[in-house]
Amino acid sequence: MAPNLLHALLIFLSLSIITSSLSSPPPVTVHQDYPPYLWPLPAEFSSGDETLSVDPSLSLIVAGNGGGSPIVKAAFERYMGMIFKHSFGRASSLLSRIRFLRMVEYDITSLKIVVHSDSEELQFGVDESYTLMVSKKKEQSIVGAATIEANTVYGALRGLETFSQLCAFDYLTKSVQIYNAPWFIQDKPRFQYRGLLIDTSRHYLPIDVIKQIIESMSFAKLNVLHWHIVDEQSFPLETPTYPNLWKGAYSRWERYTVEDASEIVRFAKMRGINVMAEVDVPGHAESWGTGYPDLWPSLSCREPLDVTKNFTFDVISGILSDMRKIFPFEFFHLGGDEVNTDCWKNTTHVKEWLQDRNFTTKDAYKYFVLRAQQIAISKNWTPVNWEETFSSFGKDLDPKTVVQNWLVSDICQKAVAKGFRCIFSNQGYWYLDHLDVPWDEVYNTEPLNGIEDPSLQKLVIGGEVCMWGETADTSVVLQTIWPRAAAAAERMWSTREAVSKGNITLNALPRLHYFRCLLNNRGVPAAPVDNWYARRPPYGPGSCYAQ
Ligand SMILES: *[C@@H]1O[C@H](CO)[C@@H](O)[C@H](O)[C@H]1NC(C)=O
Ligand SMILES: *[C@@H]1O[C@H](CO)[C@@H](O)[C@H](O)[C@H]1NC(C)=O
Ligand SMILES: *[C@@H]1O[C@H](CO)[C@@H](O)[C@H](O)[C@H]1NC(C)=O
Ligand SMILES: *[C@@H]1O[C@H](CO)[C@@H](O)[C@H](O)[C@H]1NC(C)=O
Repeated sequence: MAPNLLHALLIFLSLSIITSSLSSPPPVTVHQDYPPYLWPLPAEFSSGDETLSVDPSLSLIVAGNGGGSPIVKAAFERYMGMIFKHSFGRASSLLSRIRFLRMVEYDITSLKIVVHSDSEELQFGVDESYTLMVSKKKEQSIVGAATIEANTVYGALRGLETFSQLCAFDYLTKSVQIYNAPWFIQDKPRFQYRGLLIDTSRHYLPIDVIKQIIESMSFAKLNVLHWHIVDEQSFPLETPTYPNLWKGAYSRWERYTVEDASEIVRFAKMRGINVMAEVDVPGHAESWGTGYPDLWPSLSCREPLDVTKNFTFDVISGILSDMRKIFPFEFFHLGGDEVNTDCWKNTTHVKEWLQDRNFTTKDAYKYFVLRAQQIAISKNWTPVNWEETFSSFGKDLDPKTVVQNWLVSDICQKAVAKGFRCIFSNQGYWYLDHLDVPWDEVYNTEPLNGIEDPSLQKLVIGGEVCMWGETADTSVVLQTIWPRAAAAAERMWSTREAVSKGNITLNALPRLHYFRCLLNNRGVPAAPVDNWYARRPPYGPGSCYAQ
């Protein structure tokens, strides 16, 4: 039996060599200046004019202290699924075995990933740099080389994404090809904080949808999910220390358990994405009182939360203790925006409390925010607050505070001048729920505008696009995020020179079209790029690459 099998195998082998040499496809002509359809554009890269084929049985070779990380292995498996959608896989049918034996024909048969550090800690400022080299096999070497080298596993993930974007399925040869090889890419982000906000209070988002958002973020190399979990409308998160809080959810079925939240954090980490939780106080918190009405100053004054009671701060402390166990990220967002204190003034016990302390309502707002900051700091968090806290009492904020912009276009300029770090998310450009902002306005918005001093520029840690949830639920959330979030993602990742020079209709738009189609190919329902009004369906028939 065995010799017969071997014999048969040999026949197949020689057959396949003959057939493959006979049916060798003509070389695909690719225009010399075929653009690098990469998004976001790498910091430095060079390319050539060769077309290389990639083995569907591409093997992973790891090296370095961190190469063996399960994060690398899992990412490789994910990307194999994305790159080889059309492949015949590794099935054991006769036909696929013949194809398998043809592997000698492929130019790239392995991907080597070198990771120097064995630390999997994902904190703010983690090294995401990588180099990626793709070249044809040399005469003396057995395999063609694709190599990713990175200091951390998270750099390796960014490199894998770039590698996957170089790979394209060619329908004539029915193989995955890399055009314009050899490639040499040396890449790192411009900003260390590249965020996307989701809002699960205005509309509940199921955990699978949050995961799909996270997965899609990794395609654009975004690295922080800002999870605006609770707000005045609903409180969906379980908080064991104060178990009645999630009675403020819209319904019993629109909630997140502690385990759900932990799973989201784990899922994000596998993709190099941190999760920054937000608990917005003292405004935007009415839903808290459904479970604990004592948090409301009165039935007719439900927010801002009752500043006079220690119970209020005990609850905040309890929530933050529960959350500390879920969210390892260094930053925690305490909101602090849109605090209308009018009703504090006409609530008798609050009015008396203010008088006892000779406090204005603004003093009380400051007292609340600073006390909440101290609670977060005591739990080893760096507080992030919306810009109103800075514009109302900036000199009193804890110096560690990160100020998040939304309202005033030059607030980061002012905040960094006072020594604070800042996150840019101006509502006029980077609020994704503003549907009348086209992609090019998102793209052309520069977080460092007006900040010339390099030491102050460093204090702008990055930016964030915000997907507020009032008018976006599961039915439309992904197509409202994409493709415009990608425009901001390139602004934040690529060099300032690359995103600022030339004509973006020529330099960016074709690549953004391509990225939008890549998202679609990966199952993300990104809306057409050219729609004047975001998230709308296409105007009429046409190619994905032209809409
Ligand atoms: C409330 O908390 C403050 C600060 O911890 C403390 O000084 C005060 O005694 C507390 N008040 C009551 C009534 O427990
Ligand atoms: C207090 O003021 C708020 C807002 O200005 C108002 O809605 C509420 O009815 C007032 N309550 C009383 C008791 O006057
Ligand atoms: C109350 O505060 C105001 C201004 O903050 C100040 O002018 C006034 O002297 C204070 N009154 C008392 C009794 O401390
Ligand atoms: C950019 O290029 C497009 C397409 O060639 C052209 O229509 C447009 O006028 C150019 N814009 C500028 C500012 O040059």
